[in-house]
Amino acid sequence: MRLLVTAGPTREFMDPVRYISNRSSGKMGYAIAAAARARGHEVVLISGPVSLLAPAHVDLVKVVSAADMLAAVESHLDWCEALIMAAAVSDWRPATFQPQKMKKLKTPPELRLELTADILQAITPRKGKRIIVGFAAETSAVEAEARRKLESKGLDMIVANDVSQPDAGFDVDTNRVVFITKESPSDALPLMSKAEVGGRIVQWVEKQYAR
Ligand code: CTP
Repeated sequence: MRLLVTAGPTREFMDPVRYISNRSSGKMGYAIAAAARARGHEVVLISGPVSLLAPAHVDLVKVVSAADMLAAVESHLDWCEALIMAAAVSDWRPATFQPQKMKKLKTPPELRLELTADILQAITPRKGKRIIVGFAAETSAVEAEARRKLESKGLDMIVANDVSQPDAGFDVDTNRVVFITKESPSDALPLMSKAEVGGRIVQWVEKQYAR
């Protein structure tokens, strides 16, 4: 199959040196890309800024902002048969960008934010037969929130994880996730390495593709 995977955070700059972002390390997305490649698929990995090496024989597309990531996903969408959105896309960006470094004055600046595009929602009209898997990073009401996102983002599956646990979610090598689809009951996987979770997600996509 041809798999498009997104990973890592995005950065939204307010001036040439400062940005807002989030805690994503990219480990989950990179693990999915590695698992897909190991299972013989063609993989394009669209990645925000992370300090990880791309898995061998995976095409890496580096992006910085949510707008860059949207453009990269849109330009690879026709090519792919499945999209796995593991990236932690920033929901907001500074409403203005100052081309010169902002100076420290007595009164701190007020930071006004605006919404970035929701990438999954933006591509829904072009979904076609493509399999689309999203992630839900939650700190409370994990399943209910994930189900809401499954519907609102038009996904085939959402992988929910509780990022408030120390052994799951941000920056660690393990994860505890729940696979949520419309048709089947939720499938809660035990704590496992992100490499194993990546393999399970790719296997789920393969099964879905074969149907
Ligand atoms: N996502 C996206 N575009 C955004 C934000 C998120 O495509 N601007 C994708 C993520 O890659 C993920 C899914 O949407 O696959 C859910 O992301 P999450 O951050 O959990 O949800 P949000 O829609 O941002 O909602 P909230 O922050 O309110 O939980």
